[in-house]
Amino acid sequence: MIQIKKLTKTYGAKRALDDLDLTLGTGVTGLLGPNGAGKTTLLRCLATTLAPDGGAVDAFGLDPADRAQRTALRRRLGYLPQNPGSYPHFTAFDLVDYVAILKELTDRKHRHAEVRRVLAEVDLTDQARTKVRKLSGGMRQRLALAQALLGEPDVLILDEPTVGLDPEQRMAFRALVSRLGQSRTVVLSTHQTEDVAALCERVVVMRGGRAVFDGTPRELAAVADGRVWLSDGPPATSKLFWRTADGRYRTLGPRPPAADATPPGVEDGYLMLLGEAA
Ligand SMILES: Nc1ncnc2c1ncn2[C@@H]1O[C@H](COP(=O)(O)OP(=O)(O)O)[C@@H](O)[C@H]1O
Ligand SMILES: [Mg+2]
Repeated sequence: MIQIKKLTKTYGAKRALDDLDLTLGTGVTGLLGPNGAGKTTLLRCLATTLAPDGGAVDAFGLDPADRAQRTALRRRLGYLPQNPGSYPHFTAFDLVDYVAILKELTDRKHRHAEVRRVLAEVDLTDQARTKVRKLSGGMRQRLALAQALLGEPDVLILDEPTVGLDPEQRMAFRALVSRLGQSRTVVLSTHQTEDVAALCERVVVMRGGRAVFDGTPRELAAVADGRVWLSDGPPATSKLFWRTADGRYRTLGPRPPAADATPPGVEDGYLMLLGEAA
């Protein structure tokens, strides 16, 4: 269990986190929000790579502001940063092995077995001896995920983990993360509302350093209940519409003339929420 209380982080005049309160339990929580909402700042505070200006984090009773407790917490968490550094001349195996050494897996035999295990988890066994610079973008992203899985952490912090993955890899990623989320606390940020709908039992929408929504994906979709319409012609009443593959016009907003109601998805709820909060 992780409790975040009144967390604040300011960069110059910019409030990246603004008195944020949040509790995270076992399972997968998705952070959604526009660029600049504060998702990365929050995840960095949780990962103990950034110290907040105010407020507190309590993770399993450990306080990251205290040096000894921070070290104890780091042993229990895995972190995939938004822009993982790449070490082009390392092989996939050596890169993960290097992180494993930093994570204090000192026994070489045990460590190498663990490196092989996490590479297999992300389906990179065949690329273990390939240099990072020769891996595709999707493979690098999976490699970054592999290092976060070292040591079976209790908390997984994943910042935009599905960027660069093709649909098949995205499916494999979802299967892996939902399995991990059965016994762990997983928190991930994403721009993909489909990831949230498919994977997260809970979604937190951030905007301006605050949580403006906290609920299930179904509840987020329900924000757009009675606001999604299908019509044969383009609606005059809304700018939020597009022509669907079957030739009808799908509108988000007030009902256009002669339009039929259609059930909202997570993306509709998200767009409504941000539109109304504006
Ligand atoms: N190191 C930094 N220096 C200055 N401003 C920053 C820094 N990191 C983030 N910010 C600002 O803080 C806000 C939140 O950023 P971030 O947490 O990266 O949002 P998100 O991940 O949701 O896109 C943005 O306005 C961003 O420009
Ligand atoms: Mg970010």
